[in-house]
Amino acid sequence: MQIILVGFMGVGKTTVGQLLAQQLGQPFVDLDYEFTMTMGATPGTYMHQFSEEQFRIAEYQILKKQLAKPNAVISSGGGIVTLPISRELMTDSNYFVVYLVSDFEVNIKRLIGDTNARPLVTKLSRNDLHHLWQMRQKHYHTVADLSIDTNGKTPTTIVEQIINKL
Ligand code: S3P
Repeated sequence: MQIILVGFMGVGKTTVGQLLAQQLGQPFVDLDYEFTMTMGATPGTYMHQFSEEQFRIAEYQILKKQLAKPNAVISSGGGIVTLPISRELMTDSNYFVVYLVSDFEVNIKRLIGDTNARPLVTKLSRNDLHHLWQMRQKHYHTVADLSIDTNGKTPTTIVEQIINKL
């Protein structure tokens, strides 16, 4: 089965995804990395060169390509829920979508301390980021088969909780 992790930037999708894949003995796919390998530009560079809209369409295509392969744990980009076609693709019953929930404050602290500067974090004000975070909540919930509150939990605990629900 394909497992897709969704959630806001900095929530820990990659860390949790790698550990989950390891425990399940499945390949791990980082969608941002796949994007970079396929398009020859990081999501940030691509957005800068073209537009966020074009990035979202390309991101959808990369997701679709990955979902055509069997059995993997896929860590998605935080904005994968932006396009309705990407949301529709993920709600297909063949995939198990896990929403990693976190408080905005916890998320923001992590993002600020992260050396992997994200274009939206550097571009948007704190208020705009909060607005984006709020807007995305309903979309994450729409696509999710399971929501896990990550606040104060270690990646190991989060992975255990996911495995118990599979
Ligand atoms: C984005 C999140 C990033 C990356 C891109 C856009 C977003 O992924 O796809 O910079 O819109 O939230 P992470 O969630 O892995 O940081």
